[in-house]
Amino acid sequence: GKSGYDHFMLKEIYEQPQAVRQATRGRVSELDGTIELTAFPTAMRNELDRVQFVGCGTSYYATRYGAALLRERGVPAQAFVASEYGTERVPTEDGTVVVGVTQSGETADTLAALRDANGAGATTLAVTNVVGSSAARECDAAVYVRAGPEISVAATKSFASQQVTLATIASALADGTDRPFLESIRDLPAQVQRVLDRSNARDVAEELVGADAYFFIGRGYQHPVALEGALKMKEITYEHAEGFPAGELKHGPLALVTDRTPVVALVTGGDDLVEKTLSNVREVEARGAPVVAVTDDPDGVDGVADHVLEVPETHRYLVPVLTNVQLQLLAYWTANLLDRPIDKPRNLAKSVTVE
Ligand code: F6R
Repeated sequence: GKSGYDHFMLKEIYEQPQAVRQATRGRVSELDGTIELTAFPTAMRNELDRVQFVGCGTSYYATRYGAALLRERGVPAQAFVASEYGTERVPTEDGTVVVGVTQSGETADTLAALRDANGAGATTLAVTNVVGSSAARECDAAVYVRAGPEISVAATKSFASQQVTLATIASALADGTDRPFLESIRDLPAQVQRVLDRSNARDVAEELVGADAYFFIGRGYQHPVALEGALKMKEITYEHAEGFPAGELKHGPLALVTDRTPVVALVTGGDDLVEKTLSNVREVEARGAPVVAVTDDPDGVDGVADHVLEVPETHRYLVPVLTNVQLQLLAYWTANLLDRPIDKPRNLAKSVTVE
């Protein structure tokens, strides 16, 4: 059941402290600060030269984040929309691991890409929520994200679990003894809980509901979160929403910005990125757009943002987990005010088994 929540989506959003804890349980040793992904074969790790991620929708956005983390760790990594993977001849020389990220493990596009990769001789890994799913069975190995059953069509806790699992894989690959990261992983469930307890996303949704469109901007690790925030908004509210890299706005989308198009800006990521994103925020503000800043430094957006959705400070890899929770709540409360059938949006299915 929904355990007292109006929708499975809200219940699953609130299950995220537990979900992110489960994602690393037994995989991260706090004593000696090491990471062991038992399902990630040592042989695979030793022979790994490059990683290609495939996924769809929300899971694709998780791959964008995972690929960025691996690149920062010195592992060449690319993210592909699964349905596009087979349209290119992507070289899969020795040492290529193709990672399929799929909550259900049954998404036809993702399975097709993994089969292509298998056929081309690549090593394949499934990162999935469902034990015994097709992806888990057909890949050389599987890592389970352990989010627990997700009923709502819109993916929420499974995305958080994917983020944490991919961050842990990135750390494990880099011979994970990154103490600050491990400490932040340990604190993450409590921080997610804090965001849930204190979020004012409902009030912000009340202020903004009825807008012409919603734009989401972010840089670096927050770019996939901007895309995910917009996808969640469009799926469950049926309102127009788009995500952009913050710097791209001025190259075209800015033409759409008016006083009826709120811009949700992910303002995190160190001084340099923050400063640049704030300059993009000022550009939309000059066009009269209501600005929502999602930030771990509310003082830094003082006088720039109309509304602030605050997140606690954490390791830079994990800030996107926290900011995403605020965007989930913003989408949820907006859809709620519009009286949408949140758990079963029109035209969508939980598991898409056609290509
Ligand atoms: C978005 C959503 C979809 C799925 C996509 C992939 O809320 O649920 O975009 O993320 O269909 O599904 P999985 O992860 O099961 O492969």
